[in-house]
Amino acid sequence: MIQTIMKKLGNKSSFVNSDILSVAQFTKEGLENVFATANKMAMIVKHPRISNLLHDKLLSTIFYEPSTRTSASFQAAMHRLGGQVIAINDVNTLSVSKGETLSDTLHAFESYSDVIVMRHYDKQAPFIGAKALRIPLINAGNGTDEHPTQALLDMYTIKQELRSISGLKIGMVGDLKYGRSMHSLAQCAALFGNELYFISPESLRMPEEVLIKLQTLSACYYESTDLLGVLPKLDVLYINRMQKERFADPEAYEEVKHTYIIGADLLRSAKATLCLLHPMPRVTEISTDVDSDPRAAYFRQMRNGMFVRMALFALLFGRT
Ligand code: NCD
Repeated sequence: MIQTIMKKLGNKSSFVNSDILSVAQFTKEGLENVFATANKMAMIVKHPRISNLLHDKLLSTIFYEPSTRTSASFQAAMHRLGGQVIAINDVNTLSVSKGETLSDTLHAFESYSDVIVMRHYDKQAPFIGAKALRIPLINAGNGTDEHPTQALLDMYTIKQELRSISGLKIGMVGDLKYGRSMHSLAQCAALFGNELYFISPESLRMPEEVLIKLQTLSACYYESTDLLGVLPKLDVLYINRMQKERFADPEAYEEVKHTYIIGADLLRSAKATLCLLHPMPRVTEISTDVDSDPRAAYFRQMRNGMFVRMALFALLFGRT
């Protein structure tokens, strides 16, 4: 939607008909509005009554890269609010394979829907798409750049788990170079004055362009390779998988793939109140013996994704 591209999201009315493309649009007030609305959405799901809040709305989801939770939770969110969904999880079934442009494909879905959720391997795709569309576009991950709605659900989960989202020490460990969810989360966490600890192999450091954005936000951040050294002081530890498919050199992936593994033993040196998060999917970086630890919040985190995405739809359509 050309007039609302990168519009700042603050009070509830600013969300109406807005694209959600980047965390650069988010403000503290906007995030608090999403969280408060997500709490209401959790109540709708908890009390088994059918909501028809969005009974007249239709969502199209188009995923040019694989997805389990993001795709399913956006669909579940629309269904839970009484709306309908067209879900494309295999773009090889689209006319893209016949050479159609992204804009033409999106125009087709615009003809049938009220909102589009898109994941694309090209960083520019959501911006090109939003320019072409009259209906809102939500970025569900654009290459190695960003994953803004994941950051919303991550922040919401921290608030649910720790009852606070400011003044915390938040560690991010793993593949910070290619991990788009970390790029987005770091910027959202910085809005609330949290201290950030980036822990990664030297070759997978947080990209310079993200660090520059954090400096603009006057964020306080530290970089390290040593998880054990940093762990005891952390309130939140966010880990991701090494993003194998993004590595140009398969050997480079083999070298780093087991750098950080969180098991029950390691967690002995963490705070009793630690909040352990993972955007999922996991490979080997959290062993399953951690799943029963009360500090492991990643299954609650994935459920929160549905509440937060319900909240986004309610806000976009001005029906909170
Ligand atoms: C992540 C993604 O696709 O960016 N998953 C997600 O959306 N929950 C993380 C990943 O693929 O490792």
